[in-house]
Amino acid sequence: RQLLASELPDAQVIVVSNREPYIHNLVDGKVKLLVPASGLVSALEPVTRTCSGTWIAYGGGSADRLTVDDNDRVQVPPDRPSYMLRRVWLSDEELQGYYCGFANDGLWPLCHIAFTRPIFRASDFEMYQAVNQKFADVVVEEARNERPIVLVQDYHFALLPRMIRQRLPDATIITFWHIPWPNSEVFSICPWREKILDGLLGSSIIGFHIQFHCNNFTESVDRFLESRIEREDPSITYRGSTTLVHPYPISIEWPPVGFQNQPKASECRRQIFEKYGLAEDMWLCAGVERLDYTKGILDRFMALDQFFQKNPDWVGRLVFLQIAAPSRGTLAAYQQLHRQCLDYVDEFNRRYGNDRYKPIILLDEYHNQEDICRVYRAADICVVSSLHDGMNLVAKEFVATRDDEQGVLILSTFAGASRELLDALIVNPYDPSAVGEALLRGLNMPAEEQRDRMRRMREVVRSNNVYRWAGSMLLDAARLRKRNEAYEAT
Ligand code: F6P
Repeated sequence: RQLLASELPDAQVIVVSNREPYIHNLVDGKVKLLVPASGLVSALEPVTRTCSGTWIAYGGGSADRLTVDDNDRVQVPPDRPSYMLRRVWLSDEELQGYYCGFANDGLWPLCHIAFTRPIFRASDFEMYQAVNQKFADVVVEEARNERPIVLVQDYHFALLPRMIRQRLPDATIITFWHIPWPNSEVFSICPWREKILDGLLGSSIIGFHIQFHCNNFTESVDRFLESRIEREDPSITYRGSTTLVHPYPISIEWPPVGFQNQPKASECRRQIFEKYGLAEDMWLCAGVERLDYTKGILDRFMALDQFFQKNPDWVGRLVFLQIAAPSRGTLAAYQQLHRQCLDYVDEFNRRYGNDRYKPIILLDEYHNQEDICRVYRAADICVVSSLHDGMNLVAKEFVATRDDEQGVLILSTFAGASRELLDALIVNPYDPSAVGEALLRGLNMPAEEQRDRMRRMREVVRSNNVYRWAGSMLLDAARLRKRNEAYEAT
């Protein structure tokens, strides 16, 4: 807030994302609020609260239409309103083409190395264009002046920056791409690659989590567009304007407000062990994610299988609690993964378990933040073995909840978080024996070593928190604005 006041006085902050921060659902005649399982939402929400911005998103809840005024605007959070949520309504057809189709059947597998083939349909791309235009119209409607700061979020809106630029040439548009950017050879298979790049280069700044993804993006532009690339202070000049390309590693709020006021770690452990019928002397590993093929859930179960084969003395003593929030359930790839996970766990538990002992507990349902916090605090080990991930905020959340300075994090080398959380046990998720070795090492790690590692990781998350993430983008935006003002004055 201070930074905005000093560096960007009077600037209106507008956030645009597909996912809304509070879904209003109608349950038994009452409006119930649900915070979606989304790293994007957990990062952006505290920032938008702090700068009292306007958040534009797709309104998907069953009660949305009942809770808004005529302008489709609502103040949130409901208990302490601090910013305006402006909902954009999408028809089933629009959602199918833009969200399920181009964004999630096309761009999502294109950008993640998970060996799921992207599906590109011209009709989906048309709908993606139309929905991006719809959001551009709403941004223009919400802008109070010619120079808002627009924070465009993620791969749902690759065309939006250019569309906003055409209508609001003086806006400062910061686009953050929350997922990896592939190398230029992979990117080249997208039939609309030039349009995607042209759309994104309507931004003043494009941010990725890590330098590697910035390099991949710059290489893609170099290969497919006539542009000038500056490698010193990395920027791309194209169609007469310049876009900065920078890494901004996303993070979580610190202190982690959503996880405060929770019982102590020992009490969480007692509650979770009681809830799932675990004996006191058992060991608990936890995984928390959306049911998504990029998260490596099946691979992790296979690693556990190898681990049990090599270390049979752990059978009966170790339980893996996997929260797998339903996600994108209308897409074939997700339905297939869900079936595979259910079948695998069923067979695994028959093989290693009995009536009283289920080595894998698969919770394929939505859990709120409090429940998730209890699981984090109860676990001996948290496993984040994504096949590919831009950042992965579960890793940071786990660390943030462990104020007892205990617990071991096993982290995929293919998650952006592995560049920061160097005290995790870093693994290749494709190598089950490496994951198994990390499990064994974690289970045998002395409390002192856990404390040292956890302390250092907590310090990283504390200092590289989400306000620093947003702050560095806004500082760069202020720098750009000043540079442009000086240029215009000459
Ligand atoms: O972090 C990537 C991301 O796609 C976010 O954009 C999104 O909020 C999250 O994963 C969950 O996905 P979805 O919004 O499709 O449920």
